[in-house]
Amino acid sequence: MRILAIESSCDETGVALWASELGLVAEVLHSQVGVHAPYGGVVPELASRDHARRLPGLVRQAFAEAGWQTEEVDLVAYTAGPGLAGALLVGAAFAEAFAAAVNVPTLPIHHLEGHLLSPGITMDLVFPFLALLVSGGHTQLVWVEGVGNYEVLGETLDDAAGEAFDKAAKVLGLGYPGGARLASLAEEGDSRRFALPRPLRGSETVAFSFSGLKTAVALAARSLPADDRQGRADLAASFESAIVEVLVEKTMRAAELCSAERVVVAGGVAANRRLRTALTEALSASGRSVVFPPLRWCADNGAMVAYAAARRVANGAEGKRDGRAVVRPRWPLEALRG
Ligand code: KG4
Ligand code: ZN
Repeated sequence: MRILAIESSCDETGVALWASELGLVAEVLHSQVGVHAPYGGVVPELASRDHARRLPGLVRQAFAEAGWQTEEVDLVAYTAGPGLAGALLVGAAFAEAFAAAVNVPTLPIHHLEGHLLSPGITMDLVFPFLALLVSGGHTQLVWVEGVGNYEVLGETLDDAAGEAFDKAAKVLGLGYPGGARLASLAEEGDSRRFALPRPLRGSETVAFSFSGLKTAVALAARSLPADDRQGRADLAASFESAIVEVLVEKTMRAAELCSAERVVVAGGVAANRRLRTALTEALSASGRSVVFPPLRWCADNGAMVAYAAARRVANGAEGKRDGRAVVRPRWPLEALRG
């Protein structure tokens, strides 16, 4: 089974080619960071246009890397949601047109399922596990019983963790998207300097809330002189440690609630070093194992869509041939349960 996979839910255009006997055969990724940076955030219409501009070339490049002919593909998988409606539509329409041209079925894929299963791109996934999904758009704790069988235990009531990182980075003058830049600035800072709130810490719930923390950072940033680099580093470190503390505490609580032996951390914020260290320490101290996808597959990419499709095909999914572009900007994970 040879799969072409397309990811276009937000600001990354991802294309991957996958063969069931070989795994990932080729992957290309185009980031739109340069397109959106001047606006300080993702501009949906510009995202759609850039996906449309880049997709044909990226797909051609992936086939060239793999040395495959387009007719050799057996299935086209694509992210159908959740995400930006226009951006999703570009990927879905391209995928459906490609599939019609080579006369193969398509398989719409849930973006978060891609993230949840992403460690499987390079290693054997052992079910069941608890997943902490932390990206620019989502923050969820999910119990993963098996492929397609997901229970959301808790999620954010307001901002996503990555969104909070990006907003904090913005008030610190680090540009967009600033999560990774904030993390490197934080390495030079003293995390005890600013007393920031740890929203919902200590409560029984496994839900998250980050908007109060974001506001506290904005207020503290205003009190700093513009040239106070050490002050900004201290604030970055204080913010990072507050958010990491909450993520670790809620993950531990969820792990206890569902007696999880294994935890998977996925999404763009899974790249954060402080989070990796703190979670690894806390989970291993309680005898649990933790898996992070390799850095390149933490953020959005085509390989995770290909892998999720391959797992679905292995479970009997055949795809569809109606030519309809499926776009579900809001698509609860639990809707995947058969
Ligand atoms: O999964 P992803 O690529 O996009 C969504 O599906 O939302 O995640 C992107 C998010 C951004 O908010 C970005 O700032 C954040 O991940 N991020 C980080 C780091 N690297 C990326 N946040 C904290 N520390 C990092 N090292
Ligand atoms: Zn994502």
